[in-house]
Amino acid sequence: MEEKKIEITLYEAGGVNELTSEDAALLEKAAEATRSSYAPYSQFHVGAAVLLDNGEIICGSNQENAAYPSGLCAERVALFYATSKFSQVAIRTIAIYAMANGKANPDPVYPCGACRQVLLECENRSGQPIKVIMGSAQKIQMVHTISDLLPLAFDKFKNLKI
Ligand code: THU
Repeated sequence: MEEKKIEITLYEAGGVNELTSEDAALLEKAAEATRSSYAPYSQFHVGAAVLLDNGEIICGSNQENAAYPSGLCAERVALFYATSKFSQVAIRTIAIYAMANGKANPDPVYPCGACRQVLLECENRSGQPIKVIMGSAQKIQMVHTISDLLPLAFDKFKNLKI
């Protein structure tokens, strides 16, 4: 059997000063959004900020529930809010940030599997790649398309145009 390797491209910055002003401002919005997080069970407060092609910024935060699976991640709160408010507008970038026990998370927050699948759907819907900025106290990582976070994705409806 032949071994095949899959390559992804990840960019890393040592601080916000290495980001464009647009990306740095979006990450700041994601950090601010952690304040509206409802996370009494995990104490892990996540914020997400979505930049749309029309310049609008939509923020969201994780919302937990006593029945655990009923809660929702910050990314999907922001993405679904964005696509329900501006159904015809492409998403350009999403920034993610997290605070745990009152401190910025030391490592970048990576979107969970379900959020990656939703990001892929958003890309397919608009036909445009989405930049994902994953922030933390120490370093910031970035991919230019969700394909780099979700290789070999379930993508049955890729060419479906609505
Ligand atoms: N969470 C997010 O909101 N986004 C992520 O990327 C990872 C996890 C939330 C879900 C749950 O409320 C808490 O973080 C702990 O897992």
